[in-house]
Amino acid sequence: MSFIRESLRQNRFWLRIMKEHALFIRLGLPCDRVDLINEARDLEILFGNLLEIACQFTNPTSDSIRRFNSRVIDALNRIITFKTIVLNELITCQLGGANYPLLIDHIRREAIRFRTILIRLQNNIVLLPAQNALQEEIFWLRIMGDHARFIAQLLDPSERRLVSQSQDIAEEFEILRLQAKDLESMEAPRTFENWLLPENINRPVPPDIGVGLPNAFVTPRLKRFNTEVIDAVRGIRDFKQTALKLIESCTVLSIIPPLLADHVLREANMALSDLTIVKKELKETPI
Ligand SMILES: [Fe+2]
Ligand SMILES: [Fe+2]
Repeated sequence: MSFIRESLRQNRFWLRIMKEHALFIRLGLPCDRVDLINEARDLEILFGNLLEIACQFTNPTSDSIRRFNSRVIDALNRIITFKTIVLNELITCQLGGANYPLLIDHIRREAIRFRTILIRLQNNIVLLPAQNALQEEIFWLRIMGDHARFIAQLLDPSERRLVSQSQDIAEEFEILRLQAKDLESMEAPRTFENWLLPENINRPVPPDIGVGLPNAFVTPRLKRFNTEVIDAVRGIRDFKQTALKLIESCTVLSIIPPLLADHVLREANMALSDLTIVKKELKETPI
């Protein structure tokens, strides 16, 4: 995959998303937390400026993209720190307002993944096709499931049909995510083993780690699973498209701003792009 093309694809999508996260957090903060409100406003401007630069590259070179990625990583360090402060205050009941803790965790996960993608690009770190497929699937299944839960909770309670439809969609994604975790321990068992180790192993990995376990490998079932995930994401994408139209035309009762409806719709489309890239890579991998 081309370093320049992939860096631009990721930046042009995620920088706008990060800018909007700063706005969403700000709108949900209590009005007396001026410190947090100001930082959110600064971050919105910072990511807006970076987005403009990302969209203006006409003759990008590897060097100019490498320098730009590194600026974006610095900005991500700052927004991840900010989301962490907000989340930690929320989950220890020190912060009021209208931001759900899971929403902040969700948008921090999106930022962490974006940063890791850029770090991998900068350092030419490439995952094996099976590990990459499972990682993308597990990430997006969780994100799509969260969206369905958020929509269910932000619709007006009187919208019983749509609330229960959103909950059904969330369950569909949660079931698929459990299945993805099963496939992960079958086909990428080292990932499971790594999860059992401490966060910081400040010494060489003991020699028995990994013994008897294969590297992540592709199976026909994994290929079919990818198409099942794509089908499910198409389903939620269409649902979000309908929800956006209803919200924009004021024909549904909710506290979902149109920009948030559009934001989650764009993320479903990005999931489809990522999963289609995975599909192509799986197709080209011999079993
Ligand atoms: Fe987001
Ligand atoms: Fe999201």
